[in-house]
Amino acid sequence: MSSDQFELTNANGLRVRVLSYGGIVQSIEVPDRDGVLANVALGFADAQGYADHPGPYFGAIIGRYGNRIAKGRFTLDGASYSVPLNNGPNSLHGGLSGFDRKIWDARAVDGGVVLTLVSPDGDEGFPGELSVTVTYTLTDDDELRIDYEAVTDAPTVVNLTNHSYFNLTGVGSGSDVYGHLMQIHADGFLEVDAGLIPSGEILPVEGTALDFRSPVAIGARIRSDEAQLLLGGGYDHNWVLGGEGLREVARVVEPVSGRTLTVLTTEPGMQFYSGNFLDGTFAGSGGLAYRQGDGFALETQHFPDAPNHPSFPSTVLRPGETYRSTTIYRFGVEA
Ligand code: GLA
Repeated sequence: MSSDQFELTNANGLRVRVLSYGGIVQSIEVPDRDGVLANVALGFADAQGYADHPGPYFGAIIGRYGNRIAKGRFTLDGASYSVPLNNGPNSLHGGLSGFDRKIWDARAVDGGVVLTLVSPDGDEGFPGELSVTVTYTLTDDDELRIDYEAVTDAPTVVNLTNHSYFNLTGVGSGSDVYGHLMQIHADGFLEVDAGLIPSGEILPVEGTALDFRSPVAIGARIRSDEAQLLLGGGYDHNWVLGGEGLREVARVVEPVSGRTLTVLTTEPGMQFYSGNFLDGTFAGSGGLAYRQGDGFALETQHFPDAPNHPSFPSTVLRPGETYRSTTIYRFGVEA
């Protein structure tokens, strides 16, 4: 497995490692309230680890279509397309050989790394040659900023995200994320079926275990018997974010270390996934097995299965247009 590794550092000593394989964010070292650095991003010691264990998509760039497309089918401008079924009867995260498994062209720039990929027409069944640029920047404000851009030579659908899992106690600490306080600035979420495909209905979070408008421990209601939680085996839903432009959409506080994570995005949705499918069958960079609840992902995105839901914000990209999206993971500490 050949992959280049890039190291980003900032004035405050934060350190982020990025691989050209999958455009993977391999590690994010940030201080706790006493200044002690720990890696807070789940992953593996080398690229081979990711190739051997692609299932969780640790740290990877997800494309062409982040999240699910029902039955792997959609129509665009009257033509029908089929993409691989790799999640029961549905397609997940771009198919069998998504962007998480490609070797990206990568070059270091001031404060960051620029990754580019040309996905040929028909790649995993998606139409059009798609040229993608993803830029990771580590700022002196302790932000990992991700800028996505894409252009196509034929009409297509695109939904790019990053699949980093965080554990603010530090990977290998032995603690799960259930004590992390999660806040998501959203009034609604997409109702899903047993395959985690949206019905099209936006349900209010009010009165449900998905209400994170005020900070609540991830573990406080994760065993709720509400139907939507049981379908996900925990949290695995798309929150419908209000507002527009680059705005704060979530904030996480880990009370013991004091580490905080604030998420800003231009996207209309965010999948909060509580690591439900991590099953303890492999270990990673912390030297311990990854088990259910050892990390959480906040995948900023357009909505799952949008190509089959005309009422959802459009994921269609046409020649002459430029897909643009920005997400910021800002790290900090609280006293
Ligand atoms: C996303 C999905 C989950 C799961 C993970 C990867 O978060 O919504 O259901 O597939 O990716 O394991």
